[in-house]
Amino acid sequence: MSLDDRARQILRDNDAGGFTLPTKRLYPFQWNWDSAFAALGFATFDLDRAWTEIETLLEGQWSNGMVPHIIFRKEDPDYFPGPSVWQTGTEPPSSGISQPPVAASVVRRLLEQAGDASEPRARAAFGKLLAWHRWFHTQRDPDRLGVIAATHPWEAGRDNSPDWDEALSSVDTSGVGSYERRDTSHVDPSMRPTKQDYDRYLAILKFGVAVAWDPLRIYRNGPFLVADPGLTFILLRADRDLLWLADRLGEMAVAEEIASWVATAEAGADRLWSEDLGGYAALDLKTGQSAPALSSVAFLAFYAGLTDRAAALCENLKRFRARSSYAVASFDPGNSRFDAVRYWRGSVWAVINFLIGQGLADQGQIDLADMVRADTAHLIRGGGFAEYYDPVTGRGVGGQTFTWTAAVWLAWGLSDIESTQS
Ligand code: GLC
Repeated sequence: MSLDDRARQILRDNDAGGFTLPTKRLYPFQWNWDSAFAALGFATFDLDRAWTEIETLLEGQWSNGMVPHIIFRKEDPDYFPGPSVWQTGTEPPSSGISQPPVAASVVRRLLEQAGDASEPRARAAFGKLLAWHRWFHTQRDPDRLGVIAATHPWEAGRDNSPDWDEALSSVDTSGVGSYERRDTSHVDPSMRPTKQDYDRYLAILKFGVAVAWDPLRIYRNGPFLVADPGLTFILLRADRDLLWLADRLGEMAVAEEIASWVATAEAGADRLWSEDLGGYAALDLKTGQSAPALSSVAFLAFYAGLTDRAAALCENLKRFRARSSYAVASFDPGNSRFDAVRYWRGSVWAVINFLIGQGLADQGQIDLADMVRADTAHLIRGGGFAEYYDPVTGRGVGGQTFTWTAAVWLAWGLSDIESTQS
């Protein structure tokens, strides 16, 4: 079976009826950005199904505009923490935080691909995406700093990145109590966050429950508030794509509002710039402290359309690659906190590579874009459709038969890349 066929089969197998599971057992629900990427994969062979994925994701939208990071729909004993822990009281049941908003960029791509026939579906999605982006700008950046804060590491989608270590170390876990994790019974615990990390994740979650998931109380008084280059850059790109959609769909009444978000973020990104590191770094908004080293999301500046500091970023990207074997390690391979297999502490993620590669190509950094794309193809050929990859050995790690990795394979046309090792 060709890898294209295999990727299509994975998407079909993980289809739970209009929405796609990231992988069975380990993640038995609909995850926000996973679904957006799944839609791109489906779009290569079943456009109708691609739209459905976006529509089911947006079904989870809260009345305040937020699109949650997990839509549960039902309890599942394989997963912790489930809906009874989150206690959001929503229908369908969902978590109480969001995730990187790639969906508007996906909707733009679907409409570009499908043309006029898809316009009604794009129009229906547009109003919901607009409300979601507005929620991000008012509830995750209420002071209009131009940087988007994660109020939980899971909101950034990079659960145990070293970017959060300092901020997490001051989270009080005394009220967490006992609980049973399920993730470590599905994959090797050495690849998953530690117990201490998990206690902190739950303590932050419990704060949300205590304030009935009031986003502004979470922003102002919650135990964790870190401005994230990933969320900031993905939303900036998504806002540009939303503006494109507004124009295409004749929704000009809101164009000015969206343009103001873009302008605020373009100016605000400077706050994340670290001269010492030569890149954009996570910033603890409670303490004013920057992350100790760069994460791969720094390179999403290109994807966000920010090109002022291209030279320093390109140098760092080359350095990351020189210190591992494959682009792009999720955390600086030269830093002592780098860990090649423990989740977001160093491993390579195909979806982040896809966004980085797209941004590099958009900005004319063709050699680097080609390098990231070829490395991604080699990782998948060698390591299977894994959740993520060891950047030193290329081994596929975490869950297997993973939806977003299969989707990237298809959407990025990776079967075109020869199977020779780079
Ligand atoms: C992990 C990742 C997150 C992803 C989820 C489902 O929690 O950190 O980004 O959305 O798995 O794949």
